[in-house]
Amino acid sequence: MSDQTSDQRKRKERGAEARIALAFGTSTLGAVGFAVVYVLGGQTQLEGAALAVAFGGLAAGLALWAAHLLPSGGYVEEHHGFSSGRHQQEKLAEQLDSSGGWRRRSLLGMLTVAVGSIAAAALFPLRSLLQPRGEDIVDALSTTPWRSGGLRLVDGHGEPVRVDDVTEDTILTVYPEGHPKAGDAPAFLVRLEPERFTTRPPGGVVADGVVAYSLLCTHAGCPVSLLVQGTSRLLCPCHQSAFDLLDAAKPVSGPAGRPLPGLPIFVDDDGYLRARGDFTAPPGPGFWSRP
Ligand code: FES
Repeated sequence: MSDQTSDQRKRKERGAEARIALAFGTSTLGAVGFAVVYVLGGQTQLEGAALAVAFGGLAAGLALWAAHLLPSGGYVEEHHGFSSGRHQQEKLAEQLDSSGGWRRRSLLGMLTVAVGSIAAAALFPLRSLLQPRGEDIVDALSTTPWRSGGLRLVDGHGEPVRVDDVTEDTILTVYPEGHPKAGDAPAFLVRLEPERFTTRPPGGVVADGVVAYSLLCTHAGCPVSLLVQGTSRLLCPCHQSAFDLLDAAKPVSGPAGRPLPGLPIFVDDDGYLRARGDFTAPPGPGFWSRP
């Protein structure tokens, strides 16, 4: 093989090595990015993108390695004895000492770091499966921030809700003050004439003609946000379960099997609505819905 051909081959190999190093480095950054996003509270799209970068970089690096650095084709080697000649031994020592061997070892190191980073990042989601120390998992799943009692009901802008803000023809979504992002805590308020109740709402769920129930459908957790005018029934848009607010929010059609849990409320001295405690039953769907 001429020197010129050999130089071209070496230049190609160095270019491939640089691309492989870039791919493994990108993979490592993706794995680290996934771990950081997860630790900071998680964001599904960002986590998915980081994992795609991590695995994509790893796959690209391995593919480039296989395509450009591994031997290809069939080879026939003449065998002239079992011991290497002096010339071959010197050649091998020269190759091992050359920068090419050092670069390959660096690539192996980067591959190890990339795979190790992905494995380490996978441990973070596993940690979420562990039960928090000292916390009963059933208790954690079946209670909400309302349990502390006395919390004011605030609207979507964080403004405390007065009993006079609640009307008959619209439902008002509310959250526990200080916990606007608690996924299991949203509730709704609507004003009803007490004499129309066929079943009195569970204890404390009505105050000054205003009732409060969990916003989460007991079938699969969608927000039950459609008030059917004139019927005092609330419709879940996902699978059309209907709940009768005059009959303690029991399901009257659709797949939901439990009434909406009520939220015990009272009006404080300043006219603001506050919760007395947690919902009358765990909100949304869950293992407690199963027969
Ligand atoms: S989630 Fe409401 S009916 Fe299915």
